[in-house]
Amino acid sequence: MQDSLMCDKSKYSDNWETPPEFYKHVLPLVKDYPIWEPFVGVSHRSTKAMLELGLDVLETPNDFFEQIKEWPEKDGKPRLLLSNPPFSQKFKVLEALVEAQADGKVKPFIILLPSWVYASATFRKLVVRTKIKPQLFIPALRLNYFSSQDGLQKKATSFDSTCICYGMEGEHWETNLCYF
Ligand SMILES: C[S@@+](CC[C@H](N)C(=O)[O-])C[C@H]1O[C@@H](n2cnc3c(N)ncnc32)[C@H](O)[C@@H]1O
Repeated sequence: MQDSLMCDKSKYSDNWETPPEFYKHVLPLVKDYPIWEPFVGVSHRSTKAMLELGLDVLETPNDFFEQIKEWPEKDGKPRLLLSNPPFSQKFKVLEALVEAQADGKVKPFIILLPSWVYASATFRKLVVRTKIKPQLFIPALRLNYFSSQDGLQKKATSFDSTCICYGMEGEHWETNLCYF
């Protein structure tokens, strides 16, 4: 594993790392996909958790907004982007993910965000403008994130986390809402 070039320790809200139990919850949805982790944390916690579950994960240590111009593929198919993006750039990331679909080739993604983002005016306008059909995965647990500074897990995170998804297929996606 390489060190991420993008570890900006100055933005407090950007560097919280995902607890490994999240990946156990999302596993039924993603087990058949090769994965792309573009937002590598300081400790590679997310990649390690995915590898431990037997997933095929490619980390990219580069600037996401450059890397997305060449969405990583496996066997000619776009990998599934599964990540927890830097909070301060959430709308820029969402916009880039949606814009990446403009050539008509589906590039699936699952991104973990505070649940309010899905209902925000900014995301609603993006959906209306681009006519994208988002999906939503609601994990059945309150996620308590790890600090990248001291490695400790926060005890009582004050918000619920939800995944905005796109292009996901399989038995769990009879509708665009998925709870479990
Ligand atoms: C919320 S943390 C999540 C880390 C890891 N994905 C996880 O879930 O544990 C987001 C990470 O993205 C990195 N980052 C910030 N801007 C980035 C960019 N433009 N491209 C790639 N990574 C970036 C930050 O340094 C931070 O480590």
